[in-house]
Amino acid sequence: MFENLVPKVTHIISDGNLSVEDRLKYICELLKENVPHYDWVGFYFKNGDKRELRLGPFAGTPTDHTIIPFGKGICGQVAVSNQNFVVPDVSAQDNYIACSINVRSEIVIPLFKDGENIGQIDIDSESPDPFTEEDERFLEFINQEVAKIL
Ligand code: SME
Repeated sequence: MFENLVPKVTHIISDGNLSVEDRLKYICELLKENVPHYDWVGFYFKNGDKRELRLGPFAGTPTDHTIIPFGKGICGQVAVSNQNFVVPDVSAQDNYIACSINVRSEIVIPLFKDGENIGQIDIDSESPDPFTEEDERFLEFINQEVAKIL
């Protein structure tokens, strides 16, 4: 599954006719439509000099959580830890921001540009415990590709 998506991702990334915003949105849509356990896919980025994240392009139900302070929720924790965060069961997390009652699990992978954590890709799933190391490696690849056009 992920192998088939790799050339499609690189194709979108290298399409200079599209804005960066559109390229990121198409990647979100590609992932959401083609990976069965990806139900919401979005990018958050550091909001200027503020210690908060701002929602960027996404695919799925619009969320109220367009601004997330550093440290808050899974996303805010990744903004400060610089580490992948895989949550097999969101109900077991104290520091969690619910976007939809249907979400069972989540994965957040930091996005580095020149070694700096400038954002992340966030994926919500309605399946329990669906994420493996394959997801982590694939999403790290996505973020490396995205970093090239930021
Ligand atoms: N669940 C996230 C908030 C973002 S939504 O999933 C889109 C969190 O706890 O940080």
